Amino acid sequence: MGYGRLGKPDPGETSGRVIIPNPNPRNSKIKIMLISATVLLIASAIAVAVLIGVRHKAGNRIDKPSQAMARTCSRTLYPSLCLNSLINYPGANSASDSDLVHISVNLTLQRFGKGLYKASDINNLQMNTQIRSAYDDCLELLEESVDLLSHSLNSVFSGDGDSPTGSTQDVMTWLSAALTNHDTCTDGFANVTGNVKDHISENLKDLSELVSNALAIYAAANGDDDFSRIPIQNRRRRLMEFETHHDEFPKWMSRRDRKLMNKSVSAIQADIIVAKDGSGTVKTIAEAIKKVPEKSNHRTIIYVKAGR
Ligand SMILES: *[C@@H]1O[C@H](CO)[C@@H](O)[C@H](O)[C@H]1NC(C)=O
Ligand SMILES: *[C@@H]1O[C@H](CO)[C@@H](O)[C@H](O)[C@H]1NC(C)=O
Ligand SMILES: *[C@@H]1O[C@H](CO)[C@@H](O)[C@H](O)[C@H]1NC(C)=O
Repeated sequence: MGYGRLGKPDPGETSGRVIIPNPNPRNSKIKIMLISATVLLIASAIAVAVLIGVRHKAGNRIDKPSQAMARTCSRTLYPSLCLNSLINYPGANSASDSDLVHISVNLTLQRFGKGLYKASDINNLQMNTQIRSAYDDCLELLEESVDLLSHSLNSVFSGDGDSPTGSTQDVMTWLSAALTNHDTCTDGFANVTGNVKDHISENLKDLSELVSNALAIYAAANGDDDFSRIPIQNRRRRLMEFETHHDEFPKWMSRRDRKLMNKSVSAIQADIIVAKDGSGTVKTIAEAIKKVPEKSNHRTIIYVKAGR
């Protein structure tokens, strides 16, 4: 004996204190091991199934965007950027055409916010005056763009009971202004090289294309493939409401743009002239926007003739 005994053996009463030893104690261990092996197998089978499911889904999402997404992105100037940004956006895959409008504005807003945040990382860096001025202008312009985009989002998607904060024209104006801001920021760095410029370009990559896409999607959703419906007169007046400076230009407009806008029409030397009556280069603003080169080292100026 001396096996399977519990406690100290009592020399007097050996038999009463002895517990029948397990005939084969290893057996139960094997059983337990078998059971856990089975549990493990089932668990990993489930895990594999889930993984395959996820992979499959992810594969689908990359190969096959939803029809609404494909339709929506086909209206933009940068359809593959449009698809890629929507595919990674939570909920976009099951979104309707109309949901994709506010989703595209929202994702643009999020990206601008992130760009601004990352760009301001290097605010404390030593910079020469030219770079500092370009950098400060950029941050300011980005902040304004974030504002403009969130105004736009509020108008495109207002919560229950809230009335939209802006009209269709307002939203188009705000989105175009965000686009202009971005170009102005990039222009400021035109003649410089170095870390600051690289950091800015890295973090603001695709932003102008994203706004352009959001604008096209929004315009199309409002039955407006033709940007020329935005009367330039109203546009001017509306912009004035942002005014805080004492000249006649809105606050968000950069110094360089103010100077440009202050020139007489003949001094501007527009690259593209929009005139409904056919006396310009093109008839609609939409056509003009399509004519703007994607990569250019100078700003393309579109002059929209008054009168409709
Ligand atoms: C915009 O996106 C953010 C973050 O994904 C989300 O919390 C918010 O509800 C969205 N807003 C609208 C109006 O879709
Ligand atoms: C960059 O250089 C060109 C030619 O030297 C000049 O016309 C342009 O105004 C400069 N841009 C900036 C932002 O300094
Ligand atoms: C616009 O032009 C007028 C004169 O033509 C000038 O007095 C004014 O300072 C200019 N404003 C800006 C913002 O350049």
